[in-house]
Amino acid sequence: MTTIALPRPSPADRVATRRRYLMCPPQHFEVQYAINPWMDLTVPVDPAQAMRQWDTLRQTYLDLGHRVDVLTPETGLPDMVFSANGALVLAGKALGARLKHPERQRESPVYLTWLQQAAARGELTEVREPAHINECEGDFVVVGELVLAGHGFRTDPGAHLEVQEFFGVPVVSLELVDPRYYHLDTALAPLDETNIAYYPPAFSPGSRAVLRRLFPHAVLATEHDAAVLGLNAVSDGANIVLSAQAKHLAQQLRERGYRPVAVDLSELLKAGGGAKCCSLEIRQGPGGNAPAAPRRTDRAPTDEIGVSPVRPTTTNPTRREPPP
Ligand code: ARG
Repeated sequence: MTTIALPRPSPADRVATRRRYLMCPPQHFEVQYAINPWMDLTVPVDPAQAMRQWDTLRQTYLDLGHRVDVLTPETGLPDMVFSANGALVLAGKALGARLKHPERQRESPVYLTWLQQAAARGELTEVREPAHINECEGDFVVVGELVLAGHGFRTDPGAHLEVQEFFGVPVVSLELVDPRYYHLDTALAPLDETNIAYYPPAFSPGSRAVLRRLFPHAVLATEHDAAVLGLNAVSDGANIVLSAQAKHLAQQLRERGYRPVAVDLSELLKAGGGAKCCSLEIRQGPGGNAPAAPRRTDRAPTDEIGVSPVRPTTTNPTRREPPP
């Protein structure tokens, strides 16, 4: 069997690049309905704690030198905090959302308006509404020149073709089979331009074989790390922001030369979301991302909790976002 492996990354290659994320505060966050197995209507949510945890995530990105834009949430949309489901933005082009469940469908136009305003400011070149059910970065994971695309629970396979045509990038379809991992970003995380971490049992046998061929050096998550949504992680190429509970995964990442940055999002986990779900990456243009310039932070850099800036430069971050 031929292996179509991408070049093997070496730890010396871990370079953080500056990212831009769109986030939406959990002001109206609640578990009001159950559209995935994590959502248990009998378990109470602490809204103040959810807000504090979300804000720590936002601050973590700023401390790592990234830019964070904040979208104002709408009442009656408790899952709007999960901005990854709001769009897919690649090389300055944006495809909006078409969410499967009626409970979330009113979120799409709010995200679309934000994208259109960004386009009006000249930050995006094109914004399109999708024809097929499309849960955006929840089911589309960008790994270098490839887009990995999940189906089985939410996104329609027709959206995979739509993404390939609209962005002109190769899309690899993967079938999800475990309802706990209902979005691709709950079972697979990009680590850098060439490698990923994933939980094999979340995929059909054929899709597992595809992943083995494309990523023979992938990090394989344990059942426990997957079950705390440790794979719902955000990488800038070197720092990987992930659930504080995913201890073994953090250790595996450290061994590969990445820097795990742990965050506690236990309140948002009650709706089936983690760090990645709360972060929509705005990939603006060709030419790659600029090196990240971590902010000075009062928190001690550590591999476990807080921020582990890599390759600090003397340049100051060009922009700091005000709190929401
Ligand atoms: N409760 C939300 C839902 O079921 C969680 C969305 C999580 N988002 C994600 N990108 N995985 O739709």
